Amino acid sequence: MAELQHFGYFFSRGFGPQAWGRSDWDWGHDWTKPDLYQQSVRALEQAGMDLVIAEDAVSLGSPDTLDLRIRQAYGGPKHDPLLLAPSLFAATSHIGIAPTVNAGITPPYLAARQFATLAHLSSERLGINLVTDVGSARHAGLPPLPHDQAYDRAEEWITLLRRLWHSWGDGHVGDPSDWHFANGDALDAFHHEGPYFTADGPLNALPLDSDPVVVSPGGSGRGIRFAGTHSDVQLALAPLSTAAVTAYRATVIDAALAAGRTAADLRILFVLKAQIVSSPAEADRIVDASGHPSDQDLPTAAIAWSSDSETDLLALDLDGPVPAGAFGEHVSAGTVRGLLGDTPDAPLRELLTRKARLGRISSRSGFVGTADEFADFIEELGSDADNDGIVFSGDLHPAQVYRMLGDLVPVLRRRGLLRREYGAGGIRANLFDF
Ligand SMILES: Cc1cc2nc3c(=O)[nH]c(=O)nc-3n(C[C@H](O)[C@H](O)[C@H](O)COP(=O)(O)O)c2cc1C
Repeated sequence: MAELQHFGYFFSRGFGPQAWGRSDWDWGHDWTKPDLYQQSVRALEQAGMDLVIAEDAVSLGSPDTLDLRIRQAYGGPKHDPLLLAPSLFAATSHIGIAPTVNAGITPPYLAARQFATLAHLSSERLGINLVTDVGSARHAGLPPLPHDQAYDRAEEWITLLRRLWHSWGDGHVGDPSDWHFANGDALDAFHHEGPYFTADGPLNALPLDSDPVVVSPGGSGRGIRFAGTHSDVQLALAPLSTAAVTAYRATVIDAALAAGRTAADLRILFVLKAQIVSSPAEADRIVDASGHPSDQDLPTAAIAWSSDSETDLLALDLDGPVPAGAFGEHVSAGTVRGLLGDTPDAPLRELLTRKARLGRISSRSGFVGTADEFADFIEELGSDADNDGIVFSGDLHPAQVYRMLGDLVPVLRRRGLLRREYGAGGIRANLFDF
């Protein structure tokens, strides 16, 4: 029997119009109302997921490229996923919920208090997906920071939040028999003055049994160093090989060891957007067809990449290379690398064709395959790369959840890779009980 792994779900459109632009839209759910998400997270809890992570972007992006971001609803509208969390907690009992939070945008004292409150309300099922997007700072009247400095600020922010969460020490007594709720002397009335934040403790909230789980998705050297020091979960993107997963894990674990932690202190979960089909023949057909994108397919790919890169690719010559300087300074290096790959001089048509091309999970060339083929892959990563687990990515929509997981969950359970029941202890127990 294989060893149990950890599984999660990343809803990659955030608290936005789930399924817009797909036929699933005609199920008629209202994306601004809780029912859609409650129904979906109940299914994910039934599926044994440890946690659900909600993507977010505070900002609609640069004023010059607003249309690119919203015309197909890739970049917005998005509501605040932190405020969706209570509805999801109310609909479930075990699964963890981790809304994306931009460290630095929310003042630390306010953030510490909101998260402590939500952690109590949910019996400690709250996580935060901590991101360092620098383009949003202007909305909060903050100076934009260079990439690495935004991580420095996030580091001060999360350290301060933890100090606030622990600022009651053992001051809570709670004993009504002698009319004694708490010891004021035990509370940490500290004054913090750092490079980015000034805040006083203690926090006006009851202490927690354990801190909210910190998830981090940054893959740069600085991002990994942050994860090694502060994160409970690193969301990882890596090529599909055992060697690549082993190498990625080693980098994160080295960063944890350098920070005085151990490999057991964090979980590294690889993000996977699976297209699960009913037979190998169907998978082959889909992959073959993707090698010959239609005149319709290329603009569709261009629109998605235009939104992500805040650059109107449709306005460029499809048959020439992407001109130097086409991408603004603020565009993430990872996004640009994702499009250009190792061939920055290739014609745009070729780049987009390559992006539209799908591959078979059975040959480790892409994410199309049957449930058994995906289970083979997941099992192999566990046994050969010591992988902790997988986070599936897609819309948070019941049709999408069942399409992706309907056949896979029973196969993973039969193989002993996926939990059949939850323990007690919230999101931290989900992630660290095994
Ligand atoms: C799986 C995954 C999920 C992410 N989710 C978000 C998100 O919800 N909001 C956001 O602003 N950035 C998100 N990011 C981007 C990262 O937070 C970060 O801004 C980006 O990876 C650049 O950091 P890096 O240079 O350290 O990689 C995500 C990245 C990955 C790989």
